Amino acid sequence: MRGIVLSGGRGTRLYPATKAVSKQLIPLYDKPMVYYPLSTLMQMGIREILVVTTPEDEERYRQLLGDGGQWGIHISYCRQPRPEGIAQALVLGRDFIKDRSVALILGDNFIHGDGLFQSLGRAGGLTTGAINFAYRVSDPQRYGIVEFDAEGRPLRVVEKPTKPRSNWAVIGLYVYDQRASDFAAELKPSARGELEITDLNQRYLDLGELRIEKLGTGNAWLDTGTHDSWLEACHYVQTIFHRQGQMIGCPEEVAYRSNF
Ligand code: G1P
Repeated sequence: MRGIVLSGGRGTRLYPATKAVSKQLIPLYDKPMVYYPLSTLMQMGIREILVVTTPEDEERYRQLLGDGGQWGIHISYCRQPRPEGIAQALVLGRDFIKDRSVALILGDNFIHGDGLFQSLGRAGGLTTGAINFAYRVSDPQRYGIVEFDAEGRPLRVVEKPTKPRSNWAVIGLYVYDQRASDFAAELKPSARGELEITDLNQRYLDLGELRIEKLGTGNAWLDTGTHDSWLEACHYVQTIFHRQGQMIGCPEEVAYRSNF
């Protein structure tokens, strides 16, 4: 499986902090934000990673992450000229993905928890269909959400519904089989001018090939998109580190444990 980290966008909700610096490069407690999703991909056993950035930021990501050799992985880079949607990363990454499965993660995605290692490991073995991870939130209208039928089967994925019929948000980590680039290329831009990842997920759902992995209460999926949620995430990392002496989002540690 190959991995893509999408670190595009303008981070406008964090202005002016992100006016001159890419949002995913600002620190979350003691590490740049992008370290956290990168570590998540590494936990899935992925060693070939493409970082998609804006043209202005590419050089800074190269300075920070290099070619990945220091962590026993390989990192390459690709530019997304305009923020035209999460699913566009799969189109841009087509040659990189080739005929493999792929895990796409947002550069500000932060997950942590007990048992996560196992479910991530399982997702890393996907060969057909797609997996979305869902997390119960109190403000579902801010996210893509998944609705379930009475038997708990996924019915529909909806992007930022004004009247959400479920509290299960789809988090920014998506796992697909080798058809993802083709399917993404067939998407039409939404009203906000983006290739919506939710439309791609719906396509897999329509085919009966979308699996939803619910992250239970022992897990944290934190938003880092506003000043308050960013600060809460910083405190979370700090609290675990002080209390347990365990780092979160540390590529060196994951590389060491995974024998990379
Ligand atoms: C995006 C996706 C949304 C998903 C969210 C997770 O939202 O469109 O489906 O729930 O990431 O962070 P956006 O960052 O575009 O608001």
